Amino acid sequence: MGSGYGGSVAALRLAEAGVDVHLVEMGMAWDTPGSDGKIFANTTRPDYRSFWLRTRTKQPLSQFLGFPLDKDVPRYTGILDAEDFAGITVYQGRGVGGGSLVNGGMAVTPRCDVFPSLLPTVDPAEMYATYYPRANAGLGVTDVDRAWWESADCYRYARVGRKHAERSGFPFVFVPNVYDWDYMKQEAAGAVPRSALEGEVIYGNNHGKKSLQKTYLARAAATGRVAVSPLHKVTTVTPASGGGYTVVIERIDTTGATVETKTVTADRVFFAAGSVGTGKLLTRLKATGALPALNDRVGKNWGDNGNVMCGRANHMWDPTGKLQSAMPTAGIDNWDAGGAFAEVAPLPTGIETYASFYLSITRTPHRAEFRWNAAAGRVDLSWDRAWKQTSIDAARTIFDKINAKEGTIYRTDLFGAYKIWGDHLTYHPLGGAVLGEATDNHGRLHGYDGLYVIDGALIPGSTSVNPFVTITALAERNIEKVIATDL
Ligand code: FDA
Repeated sequence: MGSGYGGSVAALRLAEAGVDVHLVEMGMAWDTPGSDGKIFANTTRPDYRSFWLRTRTKQPLSQFLGFPLDKDVPRYTGILDAEDFAGITVYQGRGVGGGSLVNGGMAVTPRCDVFPSLLPTVDPAEMYATYYPRANAGLGVTDVDRAWWESADCYRYARVGRKHAERSGFPFVFVPNVYDWDYMKQEAAGAVPRSALEGEVIYGNNHGKKSLQKTYLARAAATGRVAVSPLHKVTTVTPASGGGYTVVIERIDTTGATVETKTVTADRVFFAAGSVGTGKLLTRLKATGALPALNDRVGKNWGDNGNVMCGRANHMWDPTGKLQSAMPTAGIDNWDAGGAFAEVAPLPTGIETYASFYLSITRTPHRAEFRWNAAAGRVDLSWDRAWKQTSIDAARTIFDKINAKEGTIYRTDLFGAYKIWGDHLTYHPLGGAVLGEATDNHGRLHGYDGLYVIDGALIPGSTSVNPFVTITALAERNIEKVIATDL
């Protein structure tokens, strides 16, 4: 279940091994244009396609220059889910391709020396020799042409970010991306329809980005062994009397209403509903008696990858450009000294803002757990908003210094009135069914043969950088083992 990174890797590799796969995805297929001729809505003009089952948008940047940005939209199975828990809003992609549909494409491999602190039971040597390279190849990860980047109008914001980082003594690191750079060059030249240069990102990219639909899932489809069911939501998994598992699936319409309930039997079930989807579902199935033998590590060790956002107000001599590519290319690495890696992010508003914008990934000890709330009939997450202070402090090790050096200040108008930090959200949910805790060292769930976790739920709360390359590489490692020994 789930067609993000973990689900796509599992589907492709199982199919290549001769296994028939049914990929069940609760979001839409995202293969049909709307009335405007485009499949996806623009970042600055959210519409019915933008949000998962909301009647009002919940944009990560909720304000600009003091004006609230959110607006009413028709309730629809849109592409970005802003899922609210008590202390945090977790943003996730919905649709065939999962998070690859909405993310910034930043394809970052963690530093090798940091890896043992992220996944202590995984051999770094085999990850860096085999599975990271395999993941990067499968995802179509490439580097931006530096010479072009140096003069491209659309990366002026990133060059300003570099100048400020380096003047304060921080390493500025280029990071690869899954965007098709040749396409972006043609966008810049006016030769093709714009996508990254039209600011398209969190509600989907109409061109240029190599989402999973164009990589792993295209290859999976070509095997002829993978059936995909969009707008189908898995609700229950229980052992079947004759072996295998009974899986209950609700087919929903674009208002989110259930129109049909299907019951199928599967030899094996791979949970790839994302950290939140898998963590919540397993917590409920254990608590309600569908899978009572799951161990008590299920639902635990969940983290936000230390995400916190902020903006800085630059001087008038440091314009960041009204044309900004929506695909980030670089970050500021202060992980060792300050526990922060800051993505130099675009603010693609179409006007000159003189603002630098950053998504920081920080080292934080805080971990939450999913808990079954029987009275309310739902799964809660025990996150405490105050825990973000650790992340803010880490991010400040970079930006306080840059502000002092440049004589600049934080923007206070992006996340509320006079509010500096975007500390209410994460883009990078991780954990909830952790490797070596809820599962064995290859994602086999304890308590049940033939049930596997193969997504971001396996990773205990942090990847030190943007997570999807690590999720993909770990899935490649685990599925190889499962195919070799379990099938
Ligand atoms: P993922 O969330 O991708 O897929 C899970 C799928 O399961 C979804 O499609 C969901 O609809 C489906 N599902 C859930 N429950 C289900 C059920 N019960 N039945 C059926 N289907 C179900 N990372 C990065 O490395 N670089 C970046 O630049 C960014 N940028 C970024 C921007 C934004 C806006 C977001 C929201 C996220 C990012 N990320 C990112 C994060 C990255 O996208 C994320 O870590 C991965 O998509 C997670 O991959 P998974 O395979 O774990 O789940």
